[in-house]
Formats: sequence, structure tokens, C-alpha cells
Amino acid sequence: MKLADNKATLSFSNGSPNIEFPVYTGTIGPDVVDIRKLYAQTGMFTYDPGFMSTAACESGITYIDGDKGELLYRGYPIEQLATNCDFMETCYLLLYGSLPNQQEKTTFSDLVTNHTMVHDQMHNFVRGFRRDAHPMAILTGLVGAMSAFYHDSTDIHNAEHRKISAIRLIAKMPTLVAMAYKYNVGQPYMYPRNKLSYAGNLLHMMFANPCEDYVVNPVIEKALDRIFILHADHEQNASTSTVRLCGSSGTNPFAAIAAGVACLWGPAHGGANEAALKMLEEIQVMGGVDKIGEFINQVKDKNSGIKLMGFGHRVYKNYDPRAKLMQESCKEVLSALGLENDPLFKLAMALEKIALEDDYFVQRKLYPNVDFYSGIVQRAIGIPTSMFTAIFALARTVGWIAQLDEMIGDPDYKIGRPRQLFTGSSQRDVVAIAKR
Ligand code: CMC
Repeated sequence: MKLADNKATLSFSNGSPNIEFPVYTGTIGPDVVDIRKLYAQTGMFTYDPGFMSTAACESGITYIDGDKGELLYRGYPIEQLATNCDFMETCYLLLYGSLPNQQEKTTFSDLVTNHTMVHDQMHNFVRGFRRDAHPMAILTGLVGAMSAFYHDSTDIHNAEHRKISAIRLIAKMPTLVAMAYKYNVGQPYMYPRNKLSYAGNLLHMMFANPCEDYVVNPVIEKALDRIFILHADHEQNASTSTVRLCGSSGTNPFAAIAAGVACLWGPAHGGANEAALKMLEEIQVMGGVDKIGEFINQVKDKNSGIKLMGFGHRVYKNYDPRAKLMQESCKEVLSALGLENDPLFKLAMALEKIALEDDYFVQRKLYPNVDFYSGIVQRAIGIPTSMFTAIFALARTVGWIAQLDEMIGDPDYKIGRPRQLFTGSSQRDVVAIAKR
């Protein structure tokens, strides 16, 4: 970051002297006012719940222009990555900053492939969960438990440990996700097949069984790979910020990523694809396309507490570019599976059209986000709704790791410690229990 030509001046109406703050400029995007010395100079904090105006770090990984609807990984538009590259290349790009050549890609993919198996005792660990546990509950536990299995890669300040833990996490996430699924449905775990692609391997581990051969459908494999690319990173979102904050204490990388998995679970974040599909199913039960108007009215009624899931975004105030790519994959998958007339897809398209023309959504700049269509694709593939967020977590793991690595390498990095505006009781004395 470099100093901008201008400075910011803070003035007070009570006659306190003005204070000047440096302004820094990045390569693209808004400048930032450096308020690090504010407390030392004034005894005051800034107040910004939800980080509406706060840049919590400097980063060179992912850039979003929410007004334009633009998403860049290391400078490359998501549309170009989704159409010209696969997930392994995307992982390499996010981790190391540049796209791999063929030899680098092969070496990287081989490295990941060689780590796909998990410690066999992990199977016993999974057995401790109830069969009907939510896959995200199981995944949070499994990822956290990795720190108990891989002791040689738990020092976050050791670059070699971080490198090994990164490969292990990327390689083993599909295996863990598939284990959570197989445990839920009561089928035996399938070991990874290293001759398959990253996405093909997940399909194999989820849908193969020991009794029959399983052939990966290339259209489904490509769509799943695209889901991974589109979800791989998204700048300083809630789960990524959680990973950074958790990692800032010096905890091990597996624990920090487990914190990210836990945060992602929420319906305002990664859980939205599950919630979006449930919403579509509910409208379908209500009567389908004919009931869209009634549903939209409920959404607009603030007292209903109902949101149009898969719509709206903190940063995008335009169409989420990932939603367009997901809609494209959705059409491809449905057509390859002979499901062109899928009622939920038709319902989603009709709902999107009506919402985009409605004043409520237009005024608030609410557009479809990636989750609006990803649920329909996953459902068509045969992935149960409860697994959607686990698939998202698998894909986002590389982004979390890249961001964690960047943070540790940042000379300005400190343990994250927000402050507060205290509005509770000032000091008071304890009264004996008999007199309270
Ligand atoms: N349906 C109806 N109204 C909405 C919606 C929605 N989906 N999203 C925002 N609004 C309204 C909100 O009520 C508010 O209205 P008003 O100004 O009258 O009070 C206005 O739009 C601004 O919303 P906000 O809640 O201040 O916006 P935010 O930036 O805090 O929230 C969000 C962003 C994603 C949490 C929210 O849009 C939302 O809950 N969307 C549905 C859940 C969803 O699809 N999440 C996935 C996000 S993309 C995947 C990911 O990154 O994890």
C-alpha cells in the first residue's frame, strides 16, 4: 500500500484540536484512512458494527467491485477462470499468486492427490456422532480434530508447517465431506481414487458403493468443479475474517479453518444455498409460480421476518457474477440429466424475474447471489440439501488458507482485538443475597 496525496482531517465540535490521518491507496478500490493512532491521540475508538466501513487488513488475493458486479482472483476475472481453468489451477493461483504452467499444475495436483486419504482412526472419530447429525456439525468437528492427527503441521508460524497443512486440508476436505455424507446415509466409506480429478473423486466418494462400479459423469464433474472455483475465495467475508481472527492468536491452521467452517454454517453466509433451496421447495408446495406474488409480499413485510434467500449481498449491489455462471451450469446439468423442465429451476427463474422488476428489490439493489442457483445444481447432481454448505466449505478452504498465510506474512499483523462502546452498568457493589 502506498500513501495517497491527500490526508484525512478529523475535527471536533467541542474545540479539541483537529487530527490528521494518513490515507493509503491500493491498486484498485477505495482508499483507506489509517486510524491506528486515533485512540492514542484522542482516547476515542471508532464505531463500526458489522465492519460496514472498516478494512481490517491489507490483501492482494481477491478483489470485488460490488457496484460493477466484478470478482477477481489475483487480478483474473472469475468468468475467465471459470471457463478456462479448473479448480486445481485456481487453488494454485490463490495460494501462490500466479497461474501454474502445465508442469507446475501436474506437480501440484499430484501433491494434493497424494494426501487425499485421512488417518484411519478418523473413521472411529466420526462414529461418535449421531447418525442424524448435520454434516456441518460433523465437518466442524472433523476439521478441528485434524490438529489431533497431524502434529507435524500445527505450528502456524512455521512456513513449512503451513505449507503441509494447506495441502492436507485441500486434499482431505473432499474425503471428510464424503465421510460425513456416508455416515448420515449409513453406507460404507469409499476410499479416494487418485486417478480421478478432484471433483470426480468427491463424486466417487459420495456416490460409489463397494458393490457396483461408479462412472463419473463429465458434465456433473465439470459443474462441481465450477462450484468449487466460484466459491474458492471472496475477500474478507465473515468466515474468512473468522479464520484470520482465530489464526491471529497463533492457534494451529486446522483450528483456524475449523472456526471458518463453523462461521460458514450460518444461513446469512454459506447456509444460504440450503435455505434458498428450502424456500423454493416451500413456494412449490404453496402452489409454485402462481404463489410468487404472495411470497414476495411476505418478504417485503418487515414483520414477517422472511427474506428472499439467495438474494442480496453486503458487497454486490449488482448481479453477483458467480450467479450468472451458476445459472449457466444449472442449465447444462439439467439438460445433461434430462431435467430441462425441472419445476424448481422454472420457479427460480420466474422468482428472479419478478424480484428484479419489483421496486423493493430495485431500490435496495438486491440481486441474485451465487446461492440462488447453486442449490438447484447440487440437488440435480444428487447432493442432499443438508450437504450444500459442506460443499461450500470444501471449496472455500483454499481461500481461507491463502488468507491465513497472507496474514501471517504481513509485518503489520497483530492479534485481532476489537474494542467496544460500553453501555452496561458502571461499577456497583454486590449486595448480600438475603438483601437482594
Ligand atoms: N430479502 C429481502 N430483503 C432483503 C434481503 C433479502 N434477501 N437482503 C437484504 N434485504 C433488505 C434488508 O431488509 C434491508 O432493508 P431496509 O433497508 O428496508 O431495512 C436492506 O435490504 C439492506 O439489507 P442489509 O440486511 O442491511 O444488508 P446486509 O449487507 O447486512 O446483508 C445479506 C447482506 C447477504 C446478509 C442479506 O442480503 C441476506 O440476508 N440475504 C439472504 C441470505 C443470502 O442469500 N446470503 C448469501 C450471501 S452470498 C454467499 C456468501 O457470501 O456467503
